[in-house]
Amino acid sequence: MSKTIILSNRLPVQLRISEGRIEAIPSVGGLATGMKSVHQDGESLWIGWSGLTREETPGDLEGDIDKALAGHGCLKVSLSREEVDGFYFGFSNRTLWPLFHYFMEYSEFELANWEVYEAVNRKFADAVVEEAGEEDVVWVHDYQLLLVPEMVRQQRPGLSIGFFLHIPFPSFEIFRTLPWRKEILRGLLGADLIGFHTYDYERHFLSSVRRLLGLEVNFNEIHLEGRVAKVDSFPMGIDYKKFREAALRHAAMEEGEESDLQRRLNLHKASTPEAKFFLSIDRLDYTKGIAKRLKAFEYFLQKYPHYREKVRLIILAVPSRSKVPQYRRLKKEIDELVGRINGELSTVSWTPIWYFYRSLEFENLIDLYTSCDIAWLTPIRDGMNLVAKEYIATRTDQSGVLILSEMAGAANELHEALLINPNNFEQIAQALDQAINMPPEEQAARNAPMQKRLERYDVEKWAQDFMDSLLAQKKQDAPYVASKLTLDHIDTLMGQYRKAKSRILFLDYDGTLAGFKNDPTKVVPDPALMELLDALNRQEHTEVFLISGRDKETLGRWFEGKNFSMIVEHGVWISENGKEFQLLENVKNDWMPKIRPVLESFVDRTPGSFIEDKNYSLAWHYRNTDPDFGQKRASELNTVLTSLIANDDLSVLNGNKVVEIKSSNVNKGRAAMRMIARRPYDFIFAIGDDWTDEFMFQELPREAVTVKVGRMKTQARYYLEGIGAVRELLRHFADFEAGK
Ligand code: ADP
Ligand code: G6P
Repeated sequence: MSKTIILSNRLPVQLRISEGRIEAIPSVGGLATGMKSVHQDGESLWIGWSGLTREETPGDLEGDIDKALAGHGCLKVSLSREEVDGFYFGFSNRTLWPLFHYFMEYSEFELANWEVYEAVNRKFADAVVEEAGEEDVVWVHDYQLLLVPEMVRQQRPGLSIGFFLHIPFPSFEIFRTLPWRKEILRGLLGADLIGFHTYDYERHFLSSVRRLLGLEVNFNEIHLEGRVAKVDSFPMGIDYKKFREAALRHAAMEEGEESDLQRRLNLHKASTPEAKFFLSIDRLDYTKGIAKRLKAFEYFLQKYPHYREKVRLIILAVPSRSKVPQYRRLKKEIDELVGRINGELSTVSWTPIWYFYRSLEFENLIDLYTSCDIAWLTPIRDGMNLVAKEYIATRTDQSGVLILSEMAGAANELHEALLINPNNFEQIAQALDQAINMPPEEQAARNAPMQKRLERYDVEKWAQDFMDSLLAQKKQDAPYVASKLTLDHIDTLMGQYRKAKSRILFLDYDGTLAGFKNDPTKVVPDPALMELLDALNRQEHTEVFLISGRDKETLGRWFEGKNFSMIVEHGVWISENGKEFQLLENVKNDWMPKIRPVLESFVDRTPGSFIEDKNYSLAWHYRNTDPDFGQKRASELNTVLTSLIANDDLSVLNGNKVVEIKSSNVNKGRAAMRMIARRPYDFIFAIGDDWTDEFMFQELPREAVTVKVGRMKTQARYYLEGIGAVRELLRHFADFEAGK
């Protein structure tokens, strides 16, 4: 039976050694708490770091540790102290974490840390390769393991690999500052499916892929050599039932059954029944805005002094990454702020802030959620924020108010909460005032729809959705494109080639025989290509046609002195065996003065684009523009042209980063058909990379061998991955007669 391999830096339990005994403590943080429910229910193996360095692990306990982890369905990746320093405290938490949360000034770019990060990612990848069966599905999590998908793919190309990022993906402007930005994007693109919490993170990622790697993105799919990677958003949910049931259980507790914490909370509530409890729970992290929240609390009490002694803020900060200097500084800052505010405002009977710096047990967390009237969660930037969702889930009587930062991913789903900008103290003070005075009916009216949503899209549904999408992606890969032209196919093809009495080959030029350049005038044929074409052209019973959208002047110049046959401008002109070009189609160009100014206006407004004038067509190239912007302008141009050319016999072709307007009755398919109608051929071959070549693939008879360059939707029978593979195939054709 196949299993899911979950891979993350943190395992759901952290090991500690106390007096020679192993203790397993539940991990905190959204990833571990969320995935724990998924892991419990399914057939899965969770691979990650145990929380202990190799130096901290006594050799004689090694076996017990493995056994303890196996009891939780986990397997450890062993890391030395040096590796943990470079990989976890270093690159993950001093470079990626701050950068991805827009704290650029905290982000350190240390080559040594990057190298350790790479090496540790390889360790994780190797652990997967070791454990994964052919049918298993691999699900990699979070920013600590961005390189793993590609590292696994290289060793196990057939595996289904998914990746989910639990933190924001920053805008291109931020991401581009990272020296290893391309390596990271390539690492992620090893996955079949890449998931984010929100659409914003998804579009930031796609924009970086387009701009930094120059890859083609179609909606949310990225076309890679031989594969398609899909990108989508899946807002992570919580284990709704678990939180709701725990809250119900707590509500039903008899006196004496409650925890100490609950008893103390009850005492305070009884002594000041009017007082409101505000709750703030986060890992102690600068992204969570805890210090700002404290200052906003002070501001609130100054603005509305009548709330003094009527409100109390419970701050629970969970220790986190305390070896990173920013976290240590933050701890100090918060300690001081709490001390100062309490010092200034406390009275004999009132301490405004209760501050806990520790990790609490689940049951105590429920005590806090169910006892506090207002949850106040105002991260400066947060991938999701599960605490907000957990608070809502525990409010079984639908009371309670959630004040949430609009910078948290969860704000997209929890829009009935009071959403605030964490930097706007005035707005926060008003929101607190509104929350204190919110009538119970309004509280219920806001909470009910949120609860419904959280119940429906819980963590299990989230994981299921991701998995379904991952498996569908793998399946869809097959019929989506033609079959790959493998060595076996080539053998069969060579058999046909050899037997044929009369062959005709149609070879597209740009993107097929030669690569794209930013300047299209620079795609001159290299000597190896010339030699290959010469060899093909020398063969008996073989007609070779270069078939291109280029103008006759350019190809005429490049192949001057050669006796190749060429069809250019999509079929307007033909030159056979190096002779003069002649018109193949009778076409008009009197429409050009009307269309040219339109294209010129697009050039003016789209830096980097330009017009190519051909004798019978006009092309607007946007390869050198900003990719997102160029794509947007291209759709705009298509719309404008559609209405403009309605009464002319013209068509618009969308090629590879080019929009071309030309006469409707000219295309490569029609031209190729005219050639094969002249005499019988028993081997017809056509190869090309873009839209304009699809006319050939569509029109040529079924027995023709049609090949698309690149793995994309096509009418061709086969595909090849790139120019190298095309030349290799043509080499087979050319070498056959030379008897090699
Ligand atoms: P992050 O992932 O950045 O830490 P989230 O709000 O998404 O933030 O997730 C925090 C998770 O950690 C929640 O599931 C929450 O229940 C858990 N958690 C938070 N505080 C504590 C605590 N003091 N003790 C135990 N678990 C906690
Ligand atoms: C966030 C991250 C997780 C991480 C968690 C706790 O939720 O997205 O990947 O595990 O914080 O942080 P820690 O550094 O303790 O693992």
